[in-house]
Amino acid sequence: MKTISIICQKGGVGKTTTVVNLSSIFSKNGYKTLIIDLDPQGNVSTYLNFDKNTNEATNSMQLLEGITELKPGELTEKLSIVPSNKEIASYNQEKIIGGSKIRKLKQDGVFSNYDYIFIDTPPTMSSLVQEGIAASDYYLIPTKPEFLAVEGVAQAMNFAKTTLKNIPNINTVFLGVLLNQVEVKRSSYGEFLNELEYLLGDRLFESKISHLTEIADSPFYGKTVIDFNDESKAKIEFNKLAEEIIEKVGGNEKIS
Ligand SMILES: Nc1ncnc2c1ncn2[C@@H]1O[C@H](COP(=O)(O)OP(=O)(O)OP(=O)(O)O)[C@@H](O)[C@H]1O
Ligand SMILES: [Mg+2]
Repeated sequence: MKTISIICQKGGVGKTTTVVNLSSIFSKNGYKTLIIDLDPQGNVSTYLNFDKNTNEATNSMQLLEGITELKPGELTEKLSIVPSNKEIASYNQEKIIGGSKIRKLKQDGVFSNYDYIFIDTPPTMSSLVQEGIAASDYYLIPTKPEFLAVEGVAQAMNFAKTTLKNIPNINTVFLGVLLNQVEVKRSSYGEFLNELEYLLGDRLFESKISHLTEIADSPFYGKTVIDFNDESKAKIEFNKLAEEIIEKVGGNEKIS
């Protein structure tokens, strides 16, 4: 099992879009996949048309309170969700001492059914994000190529580093920075890319996600890139990203 949290304190950079599309791709490729939504906004549920007020599924607040049995919402045969819940906003103030609640559940085998777990987090530097990082094997930082984004990425990296320093025996790995909403024709893009490549080296994903109307519109239709046709740029780019992730986390399967 591999757990990957998607973090960035900056809003609107594509955290939820990344979680939702990657989860769809991984599940479509046969991996048993779970999404955990730690964002009080609950955008994953909205995106995937899942009723976040249902009492039927275990929600992320219940994870934080500690459960013994997981009953996630079933989106497809291979894709499940632990939706968020407004109440988790109150958890923002809690302090993570000696490790996270979700990490403990993981160690207890509560998630052992899954091949991949993607965790969506809020645009804050809060305990909820710390929970996500601490529960994960890897974290990924998406960013838009824009002014101040380099600073935003550096802040996110520092936040993760500080979080991990305070938790004993943890080895969460920085998977990399994903450039999302790329517009190659923008004059500042080349300069921006150079700066990020210089700072990050191979920690910058080779795959990039373009700014595409089909991605912006997909939540309205409850679609993810797996529903697009095979020539769709969005589908090709996200598939490439999925392959790069598998390569980085040590798998060797092909994404189709
Ligand atoms: N590559 C893209 N092309 C076009 N639109 C995109 C792209 N990626 C994300 N968007 C749109 O940008 C908006 C913000 O994306 P998203 O909700 O994924 O960001 P976020 O980081 O999760 O935001 P928040 O910090 O509020 O949780 C959404 O309307 C989404 O559809
Ligand atoms: Mg989001």
